[in-house]
Amino acid sequence: MPDPVTLYEVGPRDGLQNEARPIATADKIRLVDLLSACGFDHIEVTSFVSPKWVPQLADAAEVLSGITRHPGVTYAALTPNLQGVQSALKAGVNEVAVFASASEGFSQKNINCSIRESLDRFRPVVATARDARIPVRGYVSCVTDCPYDGPVKPMAVAKVAGALLDLGCRQISLGETLGKATPDRIAAMLDAVIPRVPAPLLAGHYHDTAGHALENIAASLALGLRCFDTAIGGLGGCPFAPGAKGNVATEAVAAFLSDRGHASGLNPDRLAKAARFARSLRGPA
Ligand code: HMG
Ligand code: MG
Repeated sequence: MPDPVTLYEVGPRDGLQNEARPIATADKIRLVDLLSACGFDHIEVTSFVSPKWVPQLADAAEVLSGITRHPGVTYAALTPNLQGVQSALKAGVNEVAVFASASEGFSQKNINCSIRESLDRFRPVVATARDARIPVRGYVSCVTDCPYDGPVKPMAVAKVAGALLDLGCRQISLGETLGKATPDRIAAMLDAVIPRVPAPLLAGHYHDTAGHALENIAASLALGLRCFDTAIGGLGGCPFAPGAKGNVATEAVAAFLSDRGHASGLNPDRLAKAARFARSLRGPA
């Protein structure tokens, strides 16, 4: 029996948030619709964040309302605060995500508050989602390195991941935001986190700047992780992590897993079609 691994598609959000040139709302909707045919359980569609901070996703409500929903697919969005979760619920979101950082520098640059303040801010977000019976995912950014503070201690990641779990997040996604960590450093980070948040509740979110993301996934699989965030066509990056490339490409991870006897449940031909369209949306590197 193949050992199943879930790929959580984040391209329409993590990818398109970092494209400098404007992308038409209709193209964002077409990308999500192509992804919906691929066999994902979860697609992160957009972010309900301040349009002053991330103008690329200012059309979040139009995109989420405009997609064609497939049965069995959970359509998710980032929601940093109460205003975000309220707008996302109105647009019919199926899962929301709060996002913290393991480093103070990135927390300030990304969401304009300290780690402690962010956790306090997420409390009413989680409560609002719970009242609406909508699950919440938690992100921790900068799990090995921060663009502003440098290397991050594994115990700092464990602390924030544990706090998000205690708040009520169903899964914690560990963001290697800069995309330069090697598998030994990912393993050291996971060794600190797993005693606090069990491996089946974790996802690996590995950007691929230095080309180590597939090896980092292999190291994470060996420690029991079975969910990875990927971006179709390798789209994107984060506007607040200068120089970092996008998440590891979904189609590459699906092929890598298949070679190792893991089932992702994704259709390779439809993934290839979605990847071609995703790449056509990209501006010059
Ligand atoms: P702030 O400026 O401190 O917030 O930003 P504020 O409450 O003072 O509000 C300022 C203005 O924004 C107000 O408008 C609000 O209404 C508006 P004004 O009165 O000036 O016209 N506003 C909003 N508008 C729409 N939706 C909202 C919202 N909230 C406030 N939800 C804030 C704080 C958190 C809002 C801001 O910093 C922000 O939006 N940050 C988002 C940054 C972001 O999206 N980063 C990328 C995603 S994280 C990531 O990529 C990492 C990840 O992939 C994992 C990894 O790779 O590590 C997840
Ligand atoms: Mg990311």
